[in-house]
Amino acid sequence: MATATALRRPEIKTELPGPKARAIIEADAQFVNPAYPRPDFKLVAERGQGVWVEDVDGNMFLDCNAGVAVCSTGHCHPEVVRAIQDQAAQLIHICGTDYYYASMPELAKKLDEIVPLQRPTRTHFANSGTEAVETALKLAMHATGREKFISFFGSFHGRTLGSLSLTSSRVAQRLGFKRQVLDVVHMPYPNEYRNPFSADDCGDGGVVQGAVNWIENRLFKTTTPAEEVAAIVVEPVQGEGGYVPAPAGFLREVRRICDEHGILLIVDEVQSGMGRTGKMFALDHSGVLADIVCIAKGIASGLPLGVCVARADLMDWKPGAHASTFGGNPVAIAAALKTIELLQRELVANSAEVGAYLKRGLEKLMSKYDCIGDVRGMGMMIGVEFVKDRASKIPDPDLRDRVEMETFNRGVILLGCGPNSIRWSPPLILTKDNVDVALEIFDQAIAASI
Ligand SMILES: Cc1ncc(COP(=O)(O)O)c(C=O)c1O
Repeated sequence: MATATALRRPEIKTELPGPKARAIIEADAQFVNPAYPRPDFKLVAERGQGVWVEDVDGNMFLDCNAGVAVCSTGHCHPEVVRAIQDQAAQLIHICGTDYYYASMPELAKKLDEIVPLQRPTRTHFANSGTEAVETALKLAMHATGREKFISFFGSFHGRTLGSLSLTSSRVAQRLGFKRQVLDVVHMPYPNEYRNPFSADDCGDGGVVQGAVNWIENRLFKTTTPAEEVAAIVVEPVQGEGGYVPAPAGFLREVRRICDEHGILLIVDEVQSGMGRTGKMFALDHSGVLADIVCIAKGIASGLPLGVCVARADLMDWKPGAHASTFGGNPVAIAAALKTIELLQRELVANSAEVGAYLKRGLEKLMSKYDCIGDVRGMGMMIGVEFVKDRASKIPDPDLRDRVEMETFNRGVILLGCGPNSIRWSPPLILTKDNVDVALEIFDQAIAASI
C-alpha cells in the first residue's frame, strides 16, 4: 500500500470476493444487522490510501465512490491522519454539551464563513447526517411554532424517525414502520430529464414552473395551508434518489415562496456539500441562501460528524432543548478543520476541474451507448442513468446492476443510486489520469453488460 499513490491501474488478483473476503462476509451475515442495503458486489476493505482501496485478499481498487461520498480528501490523507493523531493524543472526549474546548467555536466560526446562510449563524454539532436533519426539523418547529413540512419524492434524509418522515427514495425504508411521526407532504422533484409535471402545470416555464404551481396552486390550496408549513426541505442535488440536480431557478423560486409565507428553507447538503459539486456547497451554484443547512458525510474525511447550521436568530432555543454527548467530538472536529483547509486550498477547485473532465468523458460514452439516457451533475457528483434506449427512456435497473458488478470485477468501485442510475462520487483528489483509467474500465463494463 505504501506504493499505492504511484499505482496507475487497479489490480485484481483473486476471484471476487476472494477467500478471506468470503469468510468475513459469512461472519457478517451471521452477526450484523441484515437491514444494511448492501449492493450485489461485495467489497471487503482492509486499507485505503488516496483513491485506492485494498481488500483483504490483496486486490487493489480505484475508488470512485469514496465510502458513499464521505472520504472527500481521499483515504487516509496524511495531513488528516496527523491532525487526528495529534488530537487523539491530546483530548479524545470531554462532552461539548457540558464543557468547552477551543476547536468547537473555531469550527462553528469557519462554518459561519462558508455555509450559504444569512450571517450570523450558529451551529449544532451531531454525529451523522440523519441527526443533522433531526436538528433542523426540531429547530424549524421550535422557531416557527408550525409543524407541517414539504418534502420531495426520491429524497433521502436519513432513517431515524423524524428524518424518515421526509425520506421517500425507496419503499423498503418505510415498510413496517407504520404511520410517520411528522406531518410531511411529498411532491415530485423537478427532474429535468424526467419532467414529472403536466404540460398545463409547466406552461412556458418548464419543470421549474411545474414545481412552483404544484406548491402554490395545489398544496397551498388543498392539503397544506402555507401558514401552517414550518419548512420546505430540499436536497439541491438528490443523492440516493439518483444524483438529480435541481434547476437553479427552482431553488430561487422556493426561496421566494418561503419568504412570502414565513416558511423556512432547510437545505440538506449532507451528500452534496463540502466541495462535492465543484463549489463548497451545491446551493452556491444558485446564489440562494438557506435558513438552515444540514451537513455531514464529507465534512470530516470519514470521522463521524454531522452539523446543523442555522441563522442565529432562529437558533435561540433554551439550554436543554437539543444537545448530544458525542456531537462535535474533538477528534472529529480536528479532522473537519483539516478537511476544510484542504478543500479550500485545492480540492474544491480540483472537484470542479477534474469533475468537468470526468463528465465530458461520460458524455462521450453516452454518444457511444444508447443505453445511457442521461449524464448529469456538477463537480464530482455525477449521475449516469441507464435506460432500454434513449428514445423510450424506459429505466433499465438490471443493466445498471450488471454494469456496477462488471465495473467492480475490473477493479473500479462505483455505487448505484435511484432506481436505475450509477453515481460517480470519487474522492476530490481524483486526477485526470485516474479518470482516464476509470472511464476505460467503465466503457469495458458497459460493453460486457449490454
Ligand atoms: C442527503 C442526505 N441526507 C441525510 C443522509 C443521512 O446521513 P447518515 O447516513 O449519516 O445518517 C444522507 C445519507 O446518505 C443523505 O445522502
